[in-house]
Amino acid sequence: MAGATAHPETAELVRAGGAHVPGLLSAIEERLRASADGHGPLLAEQAGLTIAAGGKRLRPLLVVLSAGRPTDPRAADAVLRAGAAIELVHSATLVHDDVLDGAALRRGRATVVARSGRAMATATGDLLFARAFEELTGGGEPEAIKVLSRASSALARGELLQRADAWNPAVPLERYLRRCELKTAVLFEAACELGALAGGVSRAGLGTFGRRIGLAFQILDDVLDVSGPQERTGKQPGADLLDGTVTLPLIVARERDGELGRVDLRSIATAEQAARLCERIVATGALDAARERALTLVAEAKADLPTGLDPERRTALELVADGVVRRYS
Ligand code: IPE
Ligand code: IPE
Ligand code: MG
Ligand code: MG
Repeated sequence: MAGATAHPETAELVRAGGAHVPGLLSAIEERLRASADGHGPLLAEQAGLTIAAGGKRLRPLLVVLSAGRPTDPRAADAVLRAGAAIELVHSATLVHDDVLDGAALRRGRATVVARSGRAMATATGDLLFARAFEELTGGGEPEAIKVLSRASSALARGELLQRADAWNPAVPLERYLRRCELKTAVLFEAACELGALAGGVSRAGLGTFGRRIGLAFQILDDVLDVSGPQERTGKQPGADLLDGTVTLPLIVARERDGELGRVDLRSIATAEQAARLCERIVATGALDAARERALTLVAEAKADLPTGLDPERRTALELVADGVVRRYS
């Protein structure tokens, strides 16, 4: 996303959020760009490239929408800091995630690890993490720092759980869901909580909303890994199968196709082999089953939105929830 131009997948949501939303998102973009600088040209280049490569900016959007229209400069400052901080943590985890997953493509470009190696990717991710906390510290709100540090710890635990379960096709559903909660849903929850804190509204209900749509989001990301065209995802299709990550589509497909249960994931070494396995997963109807689960989560998230929300905020958040599932179609 460059400047004030919304990503095509979020343009409608930005419009629905209200007249104040585009200006806040542009200001967050500015902060993100500035945040990459100040630690030497080498790291600034890598971090800057990651940020400039764009992305949907879904988590800052959730911060802005959860906060509502800021009523004073202090609230506006808290929204900008939280929006930048959450996207910096997200970008940091993507750079590190691509090291762990051995991924070649991110946001349509070569990953930092593919372009510049493991050491540079580790350092770039570390820088982005550090800058995130600097943003929040400047706001002087200890509770916000707590929310983001809890989410960051959960993310790391989720990524470790994924590595621990790699290549195990019999990973139980509950364990898969726990991993997705930790590595993805908790950051969505944090985005909503940070927005609520900045906007001075109750955190609990919005946090639960974020967590549910975050879990749905990861399930659909896992569906898109099997079915999504690269032009749309900006990532290599079948990447999960190639790095041994067992996700809901494969868990369901194995229950439906006995032969799939006997496939040794370590034998999947090329993009072509991964593509063939993806076709077999699709043939079982597992993607529809995964999508159903995500739809249920989205419906629950919308149904339980706090009753006191103003209509503008409610409508925009409902649209975000719907948008998570629409990514599949
Ligand atoms: C990718 O997140 C990582 C997951 C949690 C699945 P996004 O799909 O939001 O990535 P960008 O920011 O738009 O690139
Ligand atoms: C989400 O999982 C990773 C993070 C939370 C950083 P994935 O590994 O599926 O994310 P992508 O597909 O690489 O974006
Ligand atoms: Mg990955
Ligand atoms: Mg993925």
